[in-house]
This record gives sequence, structure tokens and C-alpha cells, in this order.
Amino acid sequence: MTTPALMQAMTSDRYGPPEVLQARQVARPPLTDNGVLVRVRASSVNAGDWHLLRGEPWLVRLIYGGLLTPKIPILGTDLAGQVEAVGQQVTLFQPGDDVVGELSACGFGAFAEYVCVPESALVAKPVHISYEQAAAVPAAGMAALQGLRDLGQLQPGQRLLVGGASGGVGSLAVQIGKALGAEVTALARPEKMEMLRGLGADDVVDVNRLEVLIDSGQHYDVILDAAAFRPVADYRPLLSPGGAYILVGGSIARLFQVMLFGQWMSWRQQRRIRCLSSTPTQADLTTLCDWLEAGILTPFIDRTFPLSQLSEAIRYVERRQVRGKVVVLI
Ligand SMILES: NC(=O)c1ccc[n+]([C@@H]2O[C@H](COP(=O)([O-])OP(=O)(O)OC[C@H]3O[C@@H](n4cnc5c(N)ncnc54)[C@H](OP(=O)(O)O)[C@@H]3O)[C@@H](O)[C@H]2O)c1
Repeated sequence: MTTPALMQAMTSDRYGPPEVLQARQVARPPLTDNGVLVRVRASSVNAGDWHLLRGEPWLVRLIYGGLLTPKIPILGTDLAGQVEAVGQQVTLFQPGDDVVGELSACGFGAFAEYVCVPESALVAKPVHISYEQAAAVPAAGMAALQGLRDLGQLQPGQRLLVGGASGGVGSLAVQIGKALGAEVTALARPEKMEMLRGLGADDVVDVNRLEVLIDSGQHYDVILDAAAFRPVADYRPLLSPGGAYILVGGSIARLFQVMLFGQWMSWRQQRRIRCLSSTPTQADLTTLCDWLEAGILTPFIDRTFPLSQLSEAIRYVERRQVRGKVVVLI
């Protein structure tokens, strides 16, 4: 079977709202010597996609080198699909293999029928896990895992508080926190609390009533904040001495606050205050896939959209309607 020279992809040539995305026939990426050509079956929407699409905050334009116009022709970080062809130097995969990938370090591109990526970005898809489920985990799971295990140094028996728990990163962080042996409290809006109980959170607290939690005298060893919209100081009374506050995402002001003053705040408050910058690795992707296969991790998939409706899918996430993950089927 020959692979078609053209493929369907969602592309944008200017920054803007999801509507700037257009379905186009584009050239299929060429197979490189060290590349794996994958027929994409599913991807998912991450907050990073709409940041890159809009070019907001401006920091993303500096990082990805497209000050006025986007330099990434096709977005899409998470990948689940089937290997179509492999380059001469590829040793780990062969045509027909089912794979999972995280493409943020190799140019993105999963919102298309085909993508060519280095084998280091891929691992084997767990046999009993669907493309849909597999695609919901890589980027968000990587952030949750590295935030909790590496930066947070979360230990069995410790108490974990997850901010932004209803989103992609947060909903996986709740489950990963449990997998690492922690007692997990999730912060969420009332309409999303039930879902988090279903995912195994020991306690769920209304995010609008943080003061009540503070007044109750609760302390946490690790706070993983995927929705840092409040000053970091607000969380100080909730952190045990020597505990860690890990900022994963939220407002740009909070991000800069922790990036610039985290070390100083840590020293002053005798608590570790850090900002996560997750880095995809095959080892961590394998861990996440093992947990998927073992049923330790089950992504909460709110809705699926076909690739042609990617704009609606991103809008849905932007509007804060989503619970867990939105998957894109290709
Ligand atoms: N540092 C890294 O390496 C890294 C890696 C991955 C992701 N991130 C960042 O992590 C963040 C979360 O990503 P995600 O994929 O989980 O996004 P998501 O699925 O859209 O979830 C966002 C979460 O934030 C909450 N939220 C949104 N706006 C809020 C507000 N104004 N006040 C309070 N809560 C608010 C949402 O709660 P409601 O649904 O109740 O509104 C939801 O729980 C994003 O900023 C993303 O860019 C960082």
C-alpha cells in the first residue's frame, strides 16, 4: 500500500482565535533517515495549543520563534497512531506498530493525518488501550508526573493539594498523586467536583472557598497548581514547613512571579516554590503507558471531535467547559 502524497491537516498562517485554523490538503511530511512516519489516529487538546494558536502570552512567540506569524505550521502535541514507514536508522519501531508520542520537543504536528517524528518521541501503545485514551495522556500526564515526582518529590503518605484539578493536567495529577501513594485533595468549581471524586480524590474542595480550607488549618506537603491565578502567598498557610508549591500553569503574572522570585520566596518562606517546565522523555511516557495498561491511570475524556472540528474543540477547552480531556479523532 502506498502512502498518499497529500494529507488533510489543520493549519493556520496567522495568530488568532481558533477560527483561524483551516482544513487544508498539504504535502505529507517526507520520511527522514531517523524518522518514523505515523498515521495519526487521535490527538488531544492541551492548553498549550491555544496559547500557540493565539500567540499568547507573547512569551510563546519568543520561545517558538514566530514573533509576528506562527512558525509552527501544524499544531498538536499528543499522538496516538500507527507506524506507516520508518527511516533507515530507526531501530525501535516497524510499520504496523501502534505508538504513542509527545511532540512538543520535535515540532508538534499531530493535528494532521501523518506526522514524521524521531523515534525518541515515541513509545509502544499499550495493547488494551484505545487510540482515543492513549492520546489523552502524553503532555498533560508528563507535566503532572514530573511536577509531582521530580519537582514536588512527593512521597507515599504525604498530603497533596491539586489546583486546576478538573483540567487535563489536574485530572491526571489527582490519579498520579494516588499512584505515588499520597492523600489527594482536589480544588475545583462545584460543578466539576463529582468527577474528581470519581477519579479517586480523597477530598474535593470548592476552589472559591480556599479561605475556608485555610481557616480549617489543613496543611499539605505538596501543592501542584495547574491554575495559578491567585498570588502564591495565598497558599503559604496551606503548605507544611519544608513543603513544595509547584506552579504548572495559570496567569502569566504568577508564572513570572515564580520564575523570577521563586528562589527568593523559597528561602524566605522555608518552603520550596518552583515553576515546572516539563520535558518529554521516553522513560516517562513509558511509565504513563504502563499505568494506563494497569488501570492505575484512566483519562477522563469529556468529548471527542473530528479533526475538521478542531476549532470547536479548542474553543470548548478555552471556554472552561471541559472536564478532563478533549480528544481529536483523525
Ligand atoms: N509548565 C509546564 O511544563 C506545563 C505543561 C503542561 C501544561 N501547562 C500549563 O498548565 C495549565 C493547565 O493545563 P491543562 O492542559 O490542564 O488546561 P485545561 O485542561 O484547560 O485546565 C485548566 C484548569 O484551570 C482551571 N482554570 C482555568 N481558568 C481558571 C481561572 N481563571 N481561575 C481558576 N481556575 C481556572 C480550570 O478549572 P475550571 O474548568 O473549573 O475553570 C481547569 O481545571 C495551562 O496553563 C498549561 O499551559 C504547563
